[in-house]
Amino acid sequence: MSTVVAVVNPKGGVGKTTTAINLAASLAAIQRPTLLIDMDPDGACEVGLGFSRSAIHGGLFDVFSGRATLSATIHQTSLPYLHFTPSNIRTSEEEMQFAEAATDRRLMRDLLTGNIRDAYDFIILDCPPTLANLTVNALVAADTTLIPVNPGQFTVKAIIRLVKLIRIIRDKKINENLTVAGFLITMFDARTRISAQIERDMRAMFKHLVLQTMIPMNARVNEANYRGEPVITYDSQCAGAQAYLNLTLEVLYRLGFTPRRRGSVALGAETPT
Ligand SMILES: Nc1ncnc2c1ncn2[C@@H]1O[C@H](COP(=O)(O)OP(=O)(O)OP(=O)(O)O)[C@@H](O)[C@H]1O
Ligand SMILES: [Mg+2]
Repeated sequence: MSTVVAVVNPKGGVGKTTTAINLAASLAAIQRPTLLIDMDPDGACEVGLGFSRSAIHGGLFDVFSGRATLSATIHQTSLPYLHFTPSNIRTSEEEMQFAEAATDRRLMRDLLTGNIRDAYDFIILDCPPTLANLTVNALVAADTTLIPVNPGQFTVKAIIRLVKLIRIIRDKKINENLTVAGFLITMFDARTRISAQIERDMRAMFKHLVLQTMIPMNARVNEANYRGEPVITYDSQCAGAQAYLNLTLEVLYRLGFTPRRRGSVALGAETPT
């Protein structure tokens, strides 16, 4: 039975997609079968994973439109334990239809059942930068949330709106077991006072909910995105990759898991069992 993690923050450009890709890739690297689903019409995950348009054979939009099953939209990535469903939106009309289909807020949850949940240890949902229907779908389907926060463009307002929405979804028993795995400080720049200040404020405000791991501002992370590769495979030794590997262990620990095989990574061409 998989754990579904929604990577969510209504603020744009905070590192949601980068975190979703690298958390998913790191889980796959320690041999946890993982499915990454792009719920953002923007489709940044497919770029970040190096998929060309011609390599995409359907996505979540096709599933929401009733043209495909979720299983039929699952793509193998270059990491043996990592599978991927793109959003597969190509026009603004499709984007509108995608959002409209998502007015049924239980659509995603109903898709993540049975075989799909048995096939993966983790399902990671990359959310769009809004709290509209697609994000609500993700929150209704998820077991837990990971909330990236970029000190460079920090606004408490966005976080408060998100926390309120999570509370409503729980209190109205739409998804009463939804938890917050943690706030993740991304693009942390140790040279700036603002990063340190926001870290202090976040830890004072949200206490243990702020993860110990912080993702540093690191040009290799940006480069890896541009080259269409998770940073953990692009340059496994760089500070960004190491931080994402640490994040993965911290998230596993917080969710009550222990690494299956310590130090065991699967970056090569093995087949998931
Ligand atoms: N640790 C990092 N160091 C340097 N650049 C980073 C880092 N993390 C992310 N970036 C860059 O910041 C930009 C925004 O990141 P990303 O796309 O992951 O954010 P997002 O929250 O998904 O954005 P959106 O809300 O638009 O979907 C990207 O260009 C990405 O390459
Ligand atoms: Mg994104």
